[in-house]
Amino acid sequence: MSTHGTIQLDVHLTGTDAGSALRADVARGLTATPKELPPKWFYDARGSDLFEQITELPEYYPFRTERALLRDSVDDIARSSGADTVVELGSGSSTKTRLLLDAFTRTGTLTRYVPQDVSESALRGALDELHDAYPDLALHGVVGDFTRDLDRLPGADPGGKRMIAFLGGTIGNLLPVPRHEFLTHVRSVLAPGEQLLLGTGLVTDVDTMIPAYDDAAGVTAEFNRNVLHVVNRELGADFDVDAFTHVAVWDADNAWIEMRLRAGRDMTVHVADLDLDVPFTAGEEIATEVSSKFRPEQIDAMLTDAGFETTRRWVDPEGRFALTLATAV
Ligand code: SAH
Ligand code: TRP
Repeated sequence: MSTHGTIQLDVHLTGTDAGSALRADVARGLTATPKELPPKWFYDARGSDLFEQITELPEYYPFRTERALLRDSVDDIARSSGADTVVELGSGSSTKTRLLLDAFTRTGTLTRYVPQDVSESALRGALDELHDAYPDLALHGVVGDFTRDLDRLPGADPGGKRMIAFLGGTIGNLLPVPRHEFLTHVRSVLAPGEQLLLGTGLVTDVDTMIPAYDDAAGVTAEFNRNVLHVVNRELGADFDVDAFTHVAVWDADNAWIEMRLRAGRDMTVHVADLDLDVPFTAGEEIATEVSSKFRPEQIDAMLTDAGFETTRRWVDPEGRFALTLATAV
């Protein structure tokens, strides 16, 4: 039986799972010092839309840079890889991925694409569009959390080989310890010889990096504040969202941009579903997300530490973004 052209969608994040994970994260994060909220909660339907708008901002160079780099390197990537299945973690709208799918179609190896994302709305939208554009390709979407649900990704086809793509610099949104655990986990679900294609932002000048995370139109600010709308809606909290301003700072020691939400005044936020009162003083910040930027040696080291070997790397002419193809050893 041929699976060509079929669409399948597995949902591993049920509403209840997501709800209890959100409750646990918010209870812990808002009672910690300093306060924090984990980033995966940015991406409800509105958050995914706002991220799409970020990719179109003149200041947000990572998206365009990675896309141009993919355009220049996809044929090399497809030839170096030879995978028949492309799995993509945090695939979002799968826009850039089409370049990869086209190249793997040109080399004639591709039979299946497996996008995984925590955002069901983004994934459903992507699957519909991809099915129209690639009617012969088997599509197998997985709604899930890439920090938890990697074991439930589909295996290799008999005699086949998978390449896991993790683009957008999303690896930079994980802190060092979870990042190592994530890469080790990715390695553990692969057989030797299977591959990882990793997109990473590189350390570049601060005047380029900061505006990418603090744009003039305020879209990134809206995206950051969206996490407060999610907590209000899902947990019955009463955050006055407009009382928080978006802050993006470059932390040179850690080589990451840190995003925060700063309270504009003293206030107490009530989170009804947790029966929790959260006091804020004016100027107090909630840490929401980091976006780490890397140096090439560091990329090789983190891949080696997780059981991969760098096969090849492509970097844009301005040295702002890298794509690294690594092989599981
Ligand atoms: N790969 C796309 C989107 C990057 S934005 C690009 O390069 O443009 C980050 C994506 O990761 C979003 O689509 C978001 O929904 C998803 N995401 C964030 N945390 C996640 C998690 N823990 N598990 C799965 N997907 C996640
Ligand atoms: N992976 C993206 C990045 O680090 C995510 C992102 C873009 C983001 N802009 C943001 C996350 C603003 C939080 C806030 O570039």
